[in-house]
Amino acid sequence: MLTSALTDKKHERRKLMNAIKELLTEHEAVRMTLKILERITEEIDKTEKISKPEHLKQLFEFFSVFVDKCHHGKEEELLFPALETVGISRKGGPIGVMLNEHQQGRDLVAKMKRALSQYLNGDAGAAQKLKVSADAYIALLNLHIDKENNVLFPMAEQHLSENKLAELKNGFDKIETDKIGTGKHEEFHRMLDILENTYLKDS
Ligand SMILES: [Fe+2]
Ligand SMILES: [Fe+2]
Repeated sequence: MLTSALTDKKHERRKLMNAIKELLTEHEAVRMTLKILERITEEIDKTEKISKPEHLKQLFEFFSVFVDKCHHGKEEELLFPALETVGISRKGGPIGVMLNEHQQGRDLVAKMKRALSQYLNGDAGAAQKLKVSADAYIALLNLHIDKENNVLFPMAEQHLSENKLAELKNGFDKIETDKIGTGKHEEFHRMLDILENTYLKDS
């Protein structure tokens, strides 16, 4: 199942997973939520209405907490600095591009949140604004994930030592506990299960 990145058993197994595999697994969970967002925006396009604002609020929380604080936190605080020590450059190089895209993602999530609250305050036109930002976010993150999966992570696996990867993994575990915590992790899992069943059961 697509949400398996967040299930209990997988959570246990992730403790044994290497740092890069953990980020790849998280990318799969992110891609699944982008598909759900895509389904919701298709509905907005057809009806010009937001029928389930609570689902968008749940997704936005996932994008802010799981994707940005936790996943991007692991990359920005630990993986990218480790890559810089083996000569992969920040300025004008792949790390700079990734950081810039994380910031663009943050800005787009803020725009989507703003558009949703405008819509809920009676501005019907904000539904379309939300769709424009959502489309941009989906395209941005899918491409970003492609670049990390196909370019940056293979570089990391090639250039970082086993010891460094193990050290990263310990740091990732700490970020996950500090920024999400077990209770919230389980809450996200349940939420994604419901959203997946609601929006992706035919796919
Ligand atoms: Fe990233
Ligand atoms: Fe990533």
